[in-house]
Amino acid sequence: MREAHLSAANLIWPVFVLEGERRVVEVPTLPGVARLSIDELLPRAEEAHRLGVAALAIFPVIESEKTPRAEEAMNPDGLVPRAVRALKRALPELGVITDVALDPYTSHGQDGLIDDTGYVLNDETIEVLVRQALTHAAAGADFVAPSDMMDGRIGAVRRALDEAGHAMTAILAYSAKYASSFYGPFRDAVGSARALGKSSKETYQLDPGNAREGLRECALDVAEGADMLMVKPGLPYLDMVTRVEEAFGLPVAVYQVSGEYAMLRAAAAMGAIDYARCLMESLVCFRRAGASAILTYGALDAARLLADQGGE
Ligand code: PBG
Repeated sequence: MREAHLSAANLIWPVFVLEGERRVVEVPTLPGVARLSIDELLPRAEEAHRLGVAALAIFPVIESEKTPRAEEAMNPDGLVPRAVRALKRALPELGVITDVALDPYTSHGQDGLIDDTGYVLNDETIEVLVRQALTHAAAGADFVAPSDMMDGRIGAVRRALDEAGHAMTAILAYSAKYASSFYGPFRDAVGSARALGKSSKETYQLDPGNAREGLRECALDVAEGADMLMVKPGLPYLDMVTRVEEAFGLPVAVYQVSGEYAMLRAAAAMGAIDYARCLMESLVCFRRAGASAILTYGALDAARLLADQGGE
């Protein structure tokens, strides 16, 4: 009688990569998640793939090259292109999604370039995002995923990819992305929290009270060529998952973000809830709401649990 089903093929695993070898660096505010050097990532990616996880979403931890203009984001031999090449070489069938945004690379922690007052400059940023996306596509990314929320970047990235011969590189657009306080542990993981200080992203991310504006942002991204739309964060925004799914007929991804995941872990650690059961419940609820793909730091755990249950 069950209506909504969850399988590992619905899952996308966000991972943090850093330079070096044999490095597994825990994120204190994100229990159960570690930043990994590429050699440490590969065996874990292999397990995820073996269990049927659809794709990895790669986020870089840039330790020494943060600059005001994020030059490292366009380096063809940077950490992300190297991680993509290593994954595609070892596991060609595992999907690889890259993050198009500048926050891991900027000394100020914003997703874009800023002016003297700290205001994020839309059009100047798009030029850099386009070059970043081309670098990822050339390395072999299956999807580029602009999470920056600049206006017009989906169309600009789509045109540039097509002109450069990357017509088959798809775009996962972070379309309904809210200016949320649930991103805290992620910002600790990539080191943008300290850089950001007291500044916020409210000039380009959405107001949590706005549903129609979220739909408008989705409509723009659909018109500009997005292949898949994202709603982010997850559980507090389930209404948006359903509305976006019903409105556009494109597959919808939802991101169970770092703060949501940390809450599950923290509550489990104090004995208040059962981690595995609450994780699986939240994931099936995303499916019920209409999501095709779910980004969760618990993807590998969930895939193991699904395998223990004999698939589904
Ligand atoms: C920024 C980006 C963020 C996340 C993914 N990409 C944080 C932000 O917008 O500040 C958050 C993901 C999470 O919290 O798990 N480009």
